[in-house]
Amino acid sequence: MRVHWMDGADAAEAAAGRVAALMAERPRAAIALPTGATPRALYDRLARRRRRGALASDEVRFFNLDEFAGLPASDPRSYAAYLWKHLLGPIAAPQAHVRLLRGDAPDLLAECRAYDTALAAAGGIDLAILGLGTNGHVAFNEPGDSWELATHVVTLAEATRRAQHLLFAAEREVPRQGLTMGIATLRAARALLLLVMGEGKAAALRALLAGRPDPAWPVTALLGHPDLTVLADRRLQPAATPA
Ligand code: GLP
Repeated sequence: MRVHWMDGADAAEAAAGRVAALMAERPRAAIALPTGATPRALYDRLARRRRRGALASDEVRFFNLDEFAGLPASDPRSYAAYLWKHLLGPIAAPQAHVRLLRGDAPDLLAECRAYDTALAAAGGIDLAILGLGTNGHVAFNEPGDSWELATHVVTLAEATRRAQHLLFAAEREVPRQGLTMGIATLRAARALLLLVMGEGKAAALRALLAGRPDPAWPVTALLGHPDLTVLADRRLQPAATPA
């Protein structure tokens, strides 16, 4: 695990550079995308690169990490809508290269299996970009959930539902279930890029830096991955950790 301590702007720039380099090197790369507040700056920078003609994204395969159960992509509160608005639209990703979890699928279990099949058909994930929940969740893998699963249906933790105020007017409107790539899916990705921004992430980041896998902190399931890069908020840097 490599940890780089940065401010938000530098982290977004570094992440954009990493993504752009992967696209240049592997034009048909499969990339898993997070949502939330943290990746917005990264997506803005990727869109800017695309406008300058400096992003080779036409053949890249895009997947999302997670989605709310029950919401169609046409619902502006869905993660699919977020991704089309902030990244996929601005970089003109061809529909045929985008496979997002369908929150409104009539059979959610069948949707999870179909999603795993699509991931396998893309050759597996080259790069999973990840955010971090205040409770240590990655994608929608919540504390205490099994680490052995591929894509599956989850019951969202209360902390996760409360944190969705950017998308939902009231907590009661936030769906109780979600679909998510599992820890097994993420661990199988060739590279992981974890973005940790905001003071609310201090406890979850501390658990990761402690270096011990702990089911109470799902992010610690990523420990031991051969290619894990963490871009962490410099305000969270423990005093004794060298930069
Ligand atoms: C949501 C998403 C996660 C994301 C997390 C952090 O729960 N399901 O994939 O990483 O929020 O979001 P933020 O960046 O807004 O803190």
